[in-house]
Amino acid sequence: MSKRGAKGIVELGCIQNTGFQEDDKTEEAVDGDAENRTSIVGLSSGGEGDAYTQIEPYAGMPKEVLLLYSHRACYRLPREILFWLTIACTLALISLTIAVIALSPPCLNWWQSSPVYQIYPRSFKDSDNDGVGDLKGIMEKLKHVEFLNIKAIWISPFYKSPMKDFGYDVEDFREIDPLFGSMQDFDDLLAAMHDKGLKLIMDFIPNHTSDKHQWFNLSRSGEEHYKDYYIWANCNSTHPPNNWVSVFGNSSWTYVDEKKQCYYHQFLQEQPDLNLRNPHVRNEMTDIIRFWLEKGVDGFRMDAVKHMLEAKHLRNEPQVDPSQDPDTIDTEFELHHDYTTTQLGLHEIMQDWRAVMDVYSREPGRYRVMITESYDYEEIDKTMMYYGTPHVKESDIPFNFYLLDLPTNLTGAGAHGLVNLWMANMPESKWPNWVVGNHDKPRISSSAGQPYVRVINMLLLTLPGTPTTYYGEEIGMENIEVTMDQIQDPFGKFNPNSSRDPQRSPMQWTGGVNSGFSGSNNTWLPLHPNYTTVNVEVQQKDAGSVLSQYRALSLLRQAELALQRGWLCYVWSDADVFAFLRELDGLDKAFLVVLNFGQDSVINLSDIKELPEQLTIHMSTKQEKDGKIVQKSSIATARGEGLLMQYSTHTRFNPGHASQCFVSDKACYLGALDILYKC
Ligand code: GLC
Ligand code: MG
Repeated sequence: MSKRGAKGIVELGCIQNTGFQEDDKTEEAVDGDAENRTSIVGLSSGGEGDAYTQIEPYAGMPKEVLLLYSHRACYRLPREILFWLTIACTLALISLTIAVIALSPPCLNWWQSSPVYQIYPRSFKDSDNDGVGDLKGIMEKLKHVEFLNIKAIWISPFYKSPMKDFGYDVEDFREIDPLFGSMQDFDDLLAAMHDKGLKLIMDFIPNHTSDKHQWFNLSRSGEEHYKDYYIWANCNSTHPPNNWVSVFGNSSWTYVDEKKQCYYHQFLQEQPDLNLRNPHVRNEMTDIIRFWLEKGVDGFRMDAVKHMLEAKHLRNEPQVDPSQDPDTIDTEFELHHDYTTTQLGLHEIMQDWRAVMDVYSREPGRYRVMITESYDYEEIDKTMMYYGTPHVKESDIPFNFYLLDLPTNLTGAGAHGLVNLWMANMPESKWPNWVVGNHDKPRISSSAGQPYVRVINMLLLTLPGTPTTYYGEEIGMENIEVTMDQIQDPFGKFNPNSSRDPQRSPMQWTGGVNSGFSGSNNTWLPLHPNYTTVNVEVQQKDAGSVLSQYRALSLLRQAELALQRGWLCYVWSDADVFAFLRELDGLDKAFLVVLNFGQDSVINLSDIKELPEQLTIHMSTKQEKDGKIVQKSSIATARGEGLLMQYSTHTRFNPGHASQCFVSDKACYLGALDILYKC
């Protein structure tokens, strides 16, 4: 209860404070104004009609009293100390927060911390026994990807398609081909993947559509809005507009009688090239990107991007051999592609799409990744352009296809050269990536040879950056033999040596019927006859299998900071062996990786002072060597063997060997706080 007193001060119910009384007396003596401090507070007995009893002094301190005491040194000093302490603490906290933010290295994103697993949907798992794999099949086998400790799956195209190029000829970008399932199946797959913490990367094919796409029908029939959706040029039935040839062979122009014109196709004639200089086409493609981003996909692998624009002048491309009879030119390797690939304006398109993807990347954990496919062969600077500029982002993973040349450079020095080709040309602070196989290239076991499968997987999983694994490489699947009458691939129909069927055979799950891939009597491509011994089921039970070693490396890569984001330092390369260190400043635990791409060999690493004299083999591709101790002066590896050695050191190798070492976003480890900081 409260009431206004005679002097206008609020009267509060309170209790007597004798301590205060004494003080009050002292105060009276000081200013002699006891009157001022009487009759301020009334104590209510609680009843309505009760009179207020004046009590003095009282426990609550009115302003006047407070002011009297507050000037005294014994109050003022602690008060001021407390005040400045509060300010100092606040400032310290703010600075600490700023320092923590400024000193923290960027966290690795999901596409950096896990390998990417490529699924060719026709061949992964057939759920409805029609002989062709499908989306429900993929869903049934997600456990396998989880078993590999992989968090990101790229699925080759499953859009509605006449399947002339097995899905890379799209009839409708917003529909699922019935062969693979329905949109519901897709939604279910995506939801199931997200539930398991897996990311789904789709193929996106911006360069061309199928000739069955309605845009092409409308363009061919001359419908005003669509007539420039594709690349049309005047020609006649016998003379194409120029010498340009298709990637799949022969002229890249096809004559259409009803228009008396030719349309351009970098690939099959059933894959007409879109005219990406037409803003309407650009918008259509951007809308399709948005459509799938809205559905929740986690990124795109953008197909054949270097082919997206062609020179408008349509001049002949220069011949590689100027003396060759022009009429005999029918493969892409006979021309310099000055006018049909990597044209000005290409990167602006990619950057625009990246910006659209960024809009959908803002939620934590929802970053949408852009992967680009561009085979630039000897011109690595062209590949590096896809990283964008320091100020304008583009591709997160410009596919690094250079390791695909390892089988033809199968030596320690060859591996070193190919790894260094990427590391030395990559723009500063960008993230590397490594590809050793895909649906367009022979499998490692067939190109490099079965003895080198494990060591190549070890290279892939111990280098810094994102590895991509094509389904089946984790069990060492081999190319199949395809007879002339079995050829499915249109490229193989042009030239059987170019056929990509051999590396697209069904996944080998078990030793049972069709290796557990399908219950059909007729799978779309035959299985490799070795499936009875080379399959997931058998290899899961064997701790020394290609599969178990793949998995062990994938788990280790995730668990070890030095492997995840440490330095890569070359320490040895010769005809047989390529060896490197993975270390992180401040972290005593480091790794030595010794990989044999040649014949049995012994190397001497005594010159590497930072290595201890003795090293323990953490993992060898020859399982019986695990746990063995080796001297650094004599490290033996057999043909195709890979060794991963873990060691402890206080001296890091990178500070004194800058030219042999690379790191993307440099981070240091602070053991006392168990944190990483920018250094
Ligand atoms: C890419 C694909 C390939 C396809 C071609 C045309 O290179 O990887 O399989 O045939 O584009 O779309
Ligand atoms: Mg099926």
